[in-house]
Amino acid sequence: MAANIVIGTQWGDEGKGKAIDLLASRADVVIRAQGGNNAGHTVVADGETYKLHLIPSGILHKDTLCLIGAGVVIDPKDLIGEIEALSERGLSFEHLRIDPRAHITMPWHIALDGLSEKFRGNKDIGTTHRGIGPAYMDKYERSGIRFYDLTHPEIFREKAKTAGELKNAIITKVFGGEALDLDAIIEEYTEYGRKLAPYIGDVSVLTYEAVKAKKDILFEGAQATLLDIDFGTYPYVTSSHPLSAGVCIGSGVGPMVIDNIYGVAKAYTTRVGKGPFPTELEDETGDYIRNKGGEFGTITGRPRRTGWFDSVIVRHAVRVNGLSVLMINKLDTLAGLDKLKVCTAYKKPDGTVIKDFPPVLEELEGCEPVYEEFEGFTEDISSCRRFEELPEVCRKYISRLEELCECKVGMIGVGPGREQIIERS
Ligand code: IMP
Repeated sequence: MAANIVIGTQWGDEGKGKAIDLLASRADVVIRAQGGNNAGHTVVADGETYKLHLIPSGILHKDTLCLIGAGVVIDPKDLIGEIEALSERGLSFEHLRIDPRAHITMPWHIALDGLSEKFRGNKDIGTTHRGIGPAYMDKYERSGIRFYDLTHPEIFREKAKTAGELKNAIITKVFGGEALDLDAIIEEYTEYGRKLAPYIGDVSVLTYEAVKAKKDILFEGAQATLLDIDFGTYPYVTSSHPLSAGVCIGSGVGPMVIDNIYGVAKAYTTRVGKGPFPTELEDETGDYIRNKGGEFGTITGRPRRTGWFDSVIVRHAVRVNGLSVLMINKLDTLAGLDKLKVCTAYKKPDGTVIKDFPPVLEELEGCEPVYEEFEGFTEDISSCRRFEELPEVCRKYISRLEELCECKVGMIGVGPGREQIIERS
């Protein structure tokens, strides 16, 4: 038995779905503990592509217990849509449980997300417009609506009316927007509550029972280290804690139950949304990586920004998450490039060279990457299954990443398929 966490080490979209799916196939319990339907895991299994937003990846394995913890924010409309679409493809939701403490994303959160972004103009964050920030704001202001409330119509009606009236005042009087029809929303969401009620379950208790029964447990992270509200590139971050510690808070178990923390990175770097990106490539090489790697957002379809691997970032992720092992994905995407570069440090405008990721944006801005160059490779590596089968330049590249990031690389992704992984002992 083992309790494993999978975390993104960069700005998200590192291919966590693939590591998660591999570990989920061996897990008895899979848990989502933070974030909401801003996440998008793409999993390719048996030739079928699944795009999961809120549902834990364990759903692809029929006997796996799938849990959505207290730290998640749930858009019930989206969740039901996901359940129905996946049910039509033959997946079962018998083993899905949602914590009564999880907060609900209401239509006013989505409206306010859009209005605030518009208000910020060219200083917008570039959110997914899923209402994530406003839903977490209400949680921390202690005025949110929780999954328990949603599934109890009388409680829900009262809380939704109080919250909705205040939000309508903000929407109309502050932003000059159009008031939402609260009666229609309450009616619609009461029906969602009725549909989702069978899934209610105390995730903290269920997880603890699984720990005591020595089950295999997988905590699947959403978003990534640099999107963490404290340790990411604030304010260009999400509103939760996508770090290993966030997983414990969000599911309701203590850190001593965790055995391994897997960090997932791409062999290069991408980000969606705004904010600084030291190794960004705004040239043909960037386009090559974007097109070859299919770097377009799962949620919004936006082209992702692309750049070289940045070991300053991944070393930061190793530290703040306490990573035990790294998975480097999409090494195959780099085939065909003449030269590869890896950022080893940053040079500040005053010429000082730093190796630790700066704590604030103001210090990150103006940092120039210091690069180490590698020979490129042209071989198709998608069928390699053992480290020794990789071309020598790839092995050198991976070994150097291990040194620079101060963490062992235990898995290497060489293609989109579930089986296209090199696992090292
Ligand atoms: P929000 O989470 O919708 O508030 O968006 C805040 C920032 O996090 C934006 O830059 C988003 O693009 C980014 N973001 C949120 N979720 C993900 C994700 O799952 N992958 C990559 N970026 C994300």
